[in-house]
Parts: sequence; structure tokens; C-alpha cells
Amino acid sequence: MKIGIIGSGYVGLVAAACFAEMGNHVVCVDIDKNKITQLKKGIVPIYEPGLETLVKENFQKGTLNFTSDIAEALSIVEVIFIAVGTPMGDDGSADLKYVLQVAQSIGENMTKHLVVVDKSTVPVGTADLVTQTIQHALDLRKSDLTFAVVSNPEFLKEGTAIKDFMHPDRVVVGADNDDAMSLMRNLYAPFTLSNDRFIGMDVRSAEMTKYAANAMLATKISFINEIANICEKVGADVNHVRTGIGSDKRIGYQFIYPGCGYGGSCFPKDVQALINIANNHGYNPVLISSVESVNKAQKEVLFSKLTSQLGTNLKGKKIAVWGLSFKPETDDMREAPSLNLIKSIISAGGKVNAYDPKAIHEAKFYLKGIEVNYLEDKYSALEGVDALILVTEWKEFRSPDFELIKDKMKGNIFIDGRNQFKSEFIISKGFEYLQIGVKA
Ligand SMILES: NC(=O)c1ccc[n+]([C@@H]2O[C@H](COP(=O)([O-])OP(=O)(O)OC[C@H]3O[C@@H](n4cnc5c(N)ncnc54)[C@H](O)[C@@H]3O)[C@@H](O)[C@H]2O)c1
Repeated sequence: MKIGIIGSGYVGLVAAACFAEMGNHVVCVDIDKNKITQLKKGIVPIYEPGLETLVKENFQKGTLNFTSDIAEALSIVEVIFIAVGTPMGDDGSADLKYVLQVAQSIGENMTKHLVVVDKSTVPVGTADLVTQTIQHALDLRKSDLTFAVVSNPEFLKEGTAIKDFMHPDRVVVGADNDDAMSLMRNLYAPFTLSNDRFIGMDVRSAEMTKYAANAMLATKISFINEIANICEKVGADVNHVRTGIGSDKRIGYQFIYPGCGYGGSCFPKDVQALINIANNHGYNPVLISSVESVNKAQKEVLFSKLTSQLGTNLKGKKIAVWGLSFKPETDDMREAPSLNLIKSIISAGGKVNAYDPKAIHEAKFYLKGIEVNYLEDKYSALEGVDALILVTEWKEFRSPDFELIKDKMKGNIFIDGRNQFKSEFIISKGFEYLQIGVKA
């Protein structure tokens, strides 16, 4: 099939590379000319395991191409995906300006019948808006070209995006047009060969499915974080409680790890957008609003553990932060809990030594104007620090050299935002060890 993908970010680029890998001809469009120039040189501007190889191989084969000219892409494709960002607007709603700009360009430049696929995460009713925008542009051209808009929300996870796209748990497609639904079934058939995981539905239900999925996952995280906070108060250990409840198959072990709050490009904005959608329809989503409030508070937990040890005035104190990205295996810093922590330490007069295996470049952008000492390896970040805080659980932090850590650090406070270690073990090494959901 000849496919166009508009937006070459975490979702668009992965989808493009995976569709190309399956033998389709894919053209990736981005408004960012610098990104397109880099991609044409084989430079992938984001870190996602396996992506660079897939992009390079398919570009060399000629099955994957890049352009910043949407008209050029529209002249060759039969299906076009919209995979641009839908950031949080000032009122918490999903900002649709990029999606609607793309819809406008499609209407202005299409030259034949098209299936237009909303892959961006968008509020219920957006497919109707996209349809109206394209139709309006066609009317102005006095064109009688036809098109169908379908919804195909994306469920990939940064860090395992290629695997998720190649072997999806499910492919959700909402279409009110039989031909468009059938085209989507054919397009995804190679990805669900072992058993059919294609779930067809109406457009609005597909749009809602994405928000419901993210709200459910965010709820699990806020739930366990709230349980963790209660555990600390009552002297229970959330590490035991987690395994105690996860063993119940109805609950399961996934997504019940206590931590310092969810971040990333999806959960915070999608939970907020769902609250906004509900409010706009006269419904007060009490549970989902609480999920968001619990998460906001949880992002402050590491800082309050730090001040419980060092006091609220951190003048003269130096703190090492291990892990900056919002989760491991990505360089994505959007809404990362490390940002809250670092800003709080600096505001309290402290200094920060920061290390991350992949996200330092992005962190510098998100912490512009804030003085942070970025280090090239995890041990040099520890030189003379009063405390070490582990924020993101990259694999390289799982079995560090504790003797070396102690030698480098001035103090002995180790705050673990991911409960990676057994308390007794770390305490036996001479650390003051603080975890989430365990009384210090
Ligand atoms: N990142 C994830 O893990 C993930 C997972 C599932 C769904 N989503 C959703 O997918 C969508 C895209 O997310 P992302 O993380 O890939 O975003 P991103 O910010 O990484 O990429 C978006 C890209 O779109 C480009 N763009 C913006 N306007 C454009 C235009 N008019 N024409 C061409 N290109 C344009 C930008 O330059 C950018 O490269 C969002 O709605 C997001 O919620 C993201």
C-alpha cells in the first residue's frame, strides 16, 4: 500500500518505519525541515531502541521516504495518517491546532480519493471536525473529491515502541465507512497474523477507547501511590503489599509499582483532556480528577523525603539525581518527575549533579535557565554529594557498585524513587535508605 504519515515524532516515525518494514511504500511528512534533513541523512532525532536501524534500512531500500512537502506526499498515497502532537491547552483540553492545520492542508492539496486516519490522541468528535475542515477546503476549491476519516488510536509505549507496533495487543479502528474499514483491516493484517487482534468499531468509540485506556493505567499508578503513602503512615511496607495484591489475577502485577508519579507525553495530558471532555458534557469525573491530583502530589514526594533528612534550606548541599527521562529507554522529558524535583532543590538553595544515559540533551532544553551540573557517567555525578536520588529506573542503575558510590559521596542519604533495592542490603552498606511507601 502507499501510505503517508504526517508528523515524524515518536508515533509517526515508528509507524512509518514499521509499515515500511512490512513492504508498504511510506512517505513521512514533517513541518520541521531540520528534522526531515536529518532523517534523510540517516540521523534519527529521537532515542527509541531499534528505530534507527529500521529507518536506515527502509530508507536505503527506498520503501521509506521523507519530505516536508505535504502536496508531494498526497500525490502518491492512498491512505494518510495524522500523527502530529496534541499538547495540553491552557484549560487542560487537547490542543487540536496541529491536527486541524494538517486537515486543512489535506483538503487544499489532495488530488484523489483518500482515507484519512486520525492516529493522534484526540477528543471524541475530532474525526467530525477533521471531516468538516477537509470538506470546507475542498468546497473552496470547488472539488468533488471524496474521502473517509477513520480513527486509529495508537497504544505503543516509548522504549518498546517497535515491538508494540509490530506485535500489538490490539489494533483499534473506528470507521463509519465499510471500504475504509476494509482498507484498514488489510493494512494491519500482517501485524496480527498469529491471531486476529483487529477491533473494529464506530469512530467515537475508538476515540474514547484511547482516553479510557490511558485513564485506567494512570488510575492504577495513582492507586498504588496512594496505598504507598498510607503504608508509610501506618508502618506497612508497600513492597510487600504490592506482591500481596498483584498475585490476585483480577488485579495483576502490571502497573502497580509505587513511584514518584507518572509523566511523559501521554498520561498527564490525556487524563487532563478526559476531565475536560467530561466537564464540557456536564459530567464531573470525580475518580479521574482524583487520579490527577494524587499524581501531582506524588511528584513532590522525593523532595519532601530529601528535606526530611537535610532540612528545607538546602544552601551548601549538593544532590545527585540519577535518571531524568520520564521512564527508562527513552529520551522523552515531557512532564518527567525529575523536572519537579530538580526545580524544587534549586529553589531551596541546593545544587544538582544530574546524570541520565540518554536524556541529557532533552533535559537541558526542559531546564533551560536553571543551573544544573550534567555529568557523563553515573559515578562522576556522585562526587561530594550529600544525597543520591534515583528517579528513573534505567537498567544501569540496577546493580551499581555500592562501594564506589560510598567513596564518592560526602553524605550517605540514598532516596530511591523506584524501590529498586532490598532495604536491609542497602542499609548494611552504610546508607540512610529511603523508599516510597516504606517508613524511614
Ligand atoms: N509518544 C507516545 O508514546 C504516544 C503514544 C500513543 C499516542 N500518542 C499520541 O500521538 C500523537 C503524536 O505524539 P508524538 O509523541 O509522536 O508527538 P511528537 O511531538 O514527538 O511528534 C509530532 C510531530 O508532528 C510534527 N508536526 C506538527 N505539526 C505538523 C504539521 N502541520 N505538518 C507536519 N508535521 C507536523 C512535529 O514537527 C513533530 O515532529 C499525540 O497525539 C500523542 O498523544 C503518543
